[in-house]
This record gives sequence, structure tokens and C-alpha cells, in this order.
Amino acid sequence: MQFAIPALLVVHVFAAVFWYGSAMFLVRFVLPTASAAGESGELFLLRMVEQTRFPYALVGAGALTVLTGLALLDLVSGNFSPAFMGTNMGIALSAGGACALVAFLLAILFARGLRTRAIGAALILFLGLALLAMVLSHYV
Ligand code: HEM
Repeated sequence: MQFAIPALLVVHVFAAVFWYGSAMFLVRFVLPTASAAGESGELFLLRMVEQTRFPYALVGAGALTVLTGLALLDLVSGNFSPAFMGTNMGIALSAGGACALVAFLLAILFARGLRTRAIGAALILFLGLALLAMVLSHYV
């Protein structure tokens, strides 16, 4: 049991890094470049979405981040005990988790809308806030 937290943390951080990095690369570079390239860009996107595992990898990393995050929060908080959840660290982790859930829902519900600047930017913003809250939770 004593290895549960470090083991989950390793999976959580790797999944989160992949999720955030891929989402950032997609929204900031791949989608705008494909749009600017016209028809060949559309073909490239279609091939990437339909003939590679990229969409599954992205959603899978998001789901893994959220699930390992919830399991970690359960473990570090002693089953979400109010005594821990009310501390600054508990509040920071919960706020980060809430931001991550919003980002996950955005990615699932508006997958096609990610090309819209506002939705792509919102996804990156919420993921960034989640990351900040997780890292800063130790110092608040
Ligand atoms: C529902 C979503 C999430 C929940 C409930 C959650 C929960 C947690 C918890 C409880 C920890 C602390 C573990 C410990 O100190 O032992 C943690 C650490 C961490 N989380 Fe999350 N997390 C979520 C999503 C995310 C996302 C989206 C990212 C990044 C984009 C992220 C990045 C990190 C990082 C980098 C750490 C390590 C922080 C450190 O130790 O300095 N998490 N998370």
C-alpha cells in the first residue's frame, strides 16, 4: 500500500504531461497549420483522426489523468476527509481537479469545435490552471 501513492503519481504525471503537451501542440500548431494549408491540410487531419490512434491516445491520456488524479486525491485526503479538503492544499488540489474535469468535458463534448480559437484556448487554459494548482498545492 505504501507504494500506491508514488506509483499512481508516476502514471498521473506521465499521462498529464502527454495530455497537456499533445493538446497544446494540436491546438496551437497542428490545427492552424492544417487550416492554412487548405485541402491538403483537411486530408492530413482526416488521416490523422481516422487512421491513427491519436484521438484514442488523447482521450485515453485525459481519462487516465483524471482517474489517477481522483485516486490520488482519495488517498492523500484520507477518503476525501473534510479535515484535509478544507486545508489550503486540499482546496488547491480540488480546484485543480475541477479545472481538469472542465478541460476533459470540453475535449469530449467539443472535439470538432477545437478548431474554434475560443474552445481550443479554453482547453489549454483549464489544463494550465489544473497543472498550476497541482504543483503549487505543496506551497500554499
Ligand atoms: C480530476 C483531475 C485531477 C485530480 C483529482 C488530480 C489530483 C492530484 C493529486 C491529489 C495530486 C497530489 C499527489 C501527492 O501530492 O501525493 C496531484 C499531483 C499532480 N498533478 Fe494532478 N490531478 C488531476 C489532474 C491533473 C492535470 C490535468 C494535470 C496537468 C495538466 C495534473 C498534474 C499534476 C502534477 C504535475 C502533479 C505533481 C505535483 C507535485 O507533486 O509537485 N493533474 N494531482
